[in-house]
Amino acid sequence: MTKTGFGVDVGGSGVKGGTVDLTTGELIGDRIKLPTPQPSTPNAVAETVAEIVRLARWDGPVGVTLPSVVTGGVARSAANIDKKWIGTDARALFGDAFGGRPVTVLNDADAAGIAEDRLGAGKDASGVVILLTFGTGIGSAILHNGVLLPNTEFGHMEVDCKEAEHLAASSVKDANDLSYKEWAAEVSRVLTRFEDLLWPDLFIAGGGISRKHEKWIPHLTSRTPVVPAALLNTAGIVGAAIAVDTGIAP
Ligand code: BGC
Repeated sequence: MTKTGFGVDVGGSGVKGGTVDLTTGELIGDRIKLPTPQPSTPNAVAETVAEIVRLARWDGPVGVTLPSVVTGGVARSAANIDKKWIGTDARALFGDAFGGRPVTVLNDADAAGIAEDRLGAGKDASGVVILLTFGTGIGSAILHNGVLLPNTEFGHMEVDCKEAEHLAASSVKDANDLSYKEWAAEVSRVLTRFEDLLWPDLFIAGGGISRKHEKWIPHLTSRTPVVPAALLNTAGIVGAAIAVDTGIAP
């Protein structure tokens, strides 16, 4: 019998959820997407997440991602969502919204990292794998032989006196109208700094821009291999479902 789980990925513009085949990482049925409520306060987002779970008729445990540092189920930061999240016990909030069933809440990039490492672009890799999501900001996840070190926030590391995500998020490419080649030079600066400090065996590049990987990955000059994410817009959902199933709870 197929082992299934359920994940919901909360982003700045959309909340996406689905039932996941935990063996293959494929979604069973539709990916359900609702707009992120504005303002994206904890209560409003919890209602949207509960609506997705209802629409899917899922009645088991639920994994939820936030674009936040999450420790002990509590959101500690809030990038691209309402600042009221900071200090919110997200695990308790979602638990109440789902009628008291088990819930795991984790950072969005950590969820994507878990999914890509187990079932996506990193499934055959060993050693240290770093997943970076390039979007409005840069999200990060680091895994060593499949074990996640949560909440790394490498996107905020200073590189040449600027935050990495202010140099090389894909939003910087759009804002400054950079070509893929010009933007890849910025990404290379960031990756070179990360690899000098962390010595990964593999970088996985995620976020929407990884769909166009052939336009920029070949221009990178960092020494560690870089591969595009394989699960793309489902990685957060899949990772959240794996996290609640395996009890990973940062
Ligand atoms: C946040 C991270 C998040 C990433 C992607 C960053 O700005 O600090 O927590 O994972 O954006 O959403």
